[in-house]
Amino acid sequence: MVKKVGVAILGLGVVGGGTYQTLVDHHDFYLKTQRADITVEAVLDKSTERLDVLGIPNEKRAGSIDEIVNNPAVKIVVETIGGVGVAKAFVIAALEHGKTVVTSNKELICKHSHELEAIAKKHGCGLYFEASCVGGVPIIRTLLDGVQANHIQKMMGIVNGTTNYILTKMANEGADYADTLKEAQRLGYAEFDPTNDVEGFDSMYKLSILSSMAFHTKVPHANIYREGISKISGKDIAFGKELGYTLKLLAIGKNTDKGIEVRVHPTFIDDSHPLASVNDSFNAVYLTGDAVDDIMLYGRGAGALPTASAVVSDVIYAATHSEIKYSTFKNTEKADRKTKFVSDFESAYYLRLSVDDVAGVLAQISGVFGKCGISLIEVSQIAHKMNRVYDQNPNRVPLIIITHKTTESRIKKAVEKINALGHGEVKALIRVEK
Ligand code: HSE
Repeated sequence: MVKKVGVAILGLGVVGGGTYQTLVDHHDFYLKTQRADITVEAVLDKSTERLDVLGIPNEKRAGSIDEIVNNPAVKIVVETIGGVGVAKAFVIAALEHGKTVVTSNKELICKHSHELEAIAKKHGCGLYFEASCVGGVPIIRTLLDGVQANHIQKMMGIVNGTTNYILTKMANEGADYADTLKEAQRLGYAEFDPTNDVEGFDSMYKLSILSSMAFHTKVPHANIYREGISKISGKDIAFGKELGYTLKLLAIGKNTDKGIEVRVHPTFIDDSHPLASVNDSFNAVYLTGDAVDDIMLYGRGAGALPTASAVVSDVIYAATHSEIKYSTFKNTEKADRKTKFVSDFESAYYLRLSVDDVAGVLAQISGVFGKCGISLIEVSQIAHKMNRVYDQNPNRVPLIIITHKTTESRIKKAVEKINALGHGEVKALIRVEK
């Protein structure tokens, strides 16, 4: 039997517009392949211009959220507005009227999933958010279904296209951050206010959702260590390249014996790691499960049609399944407080120092590392080999150090002590994922 399902879309921007287009263009395809007659019954957007561009007929244009939630033909409400203001109020209104909600809103799910899922359960409707993370890459359903046989031990993701585009350009063209950001803004890759992307907030929201799914416990974003790419220098990307490393903004989640470790920061990975070849605005998530071993999902993390692909996959799921599938982090806020998180995590580190080029300085610096219990893998004055001038002070030279694994607290202590020696300073500290 064909299921007839009416959909409403709130917010007809890039993602909402792509969703409208996909649902309209593929209507007959879903009818044939899914036996679902999915029609857009109503849309809501304050800009009539956007609705005109999409050619949305007048009779489908709602004047308020009330019109949508009180429309009996609407079974599924798609929220593609973004943010946690009006979007949250509209999602709650839809759930309270028994409508299943499909959202692409990572900030909303990251910050309010407990509250929203409780409302959804109370009213017997679904809350789906495949499009909230990594655009068209079906990572949420993979975590919910595909790898559910596993204890997921680790995930590493390039989950933000804007920063990956910037870092790829900096690596390929030897350009500096500020110029590359300007170019990315000119081409429409980076927003006018790029803070959300370049300072790692977008990745942090996504990591909160993905690690909550992977580790079956809510991972509040407040527990995520976050550092963006705005202080990255082209010099470090170039030095890293010489040493066989690629720099990526990684979202890392680990489920360890000591607790859950979650962090977003620029990270050097070996050039041979599959994530090192994820370039430009592409995204990827690399997962390690105890049964499946390593898998990687790769694709477009943003854009109208790739993100609509994820939104519509949820719409089709909701339209064709009578049983509702909720997220796997069902615990309450009270239970969450018992989840242990590791803040003094372990990592290997890359340090770039600018030091006086005189006898005995290296011995003093290595003495500091020794006293702090940090073992070194590599010490290099690679700038000499590269035959470039990297320091404005002609008496100072860059010194690159790679450490074995140590803790955040130890490396920060060592940096403090090196800066106090009076022979130079630590100019860059970048984590290395081995
Ligand atoms: N701004 C995001 C990115 C896309 O650059 O990847 C939406 O999550």
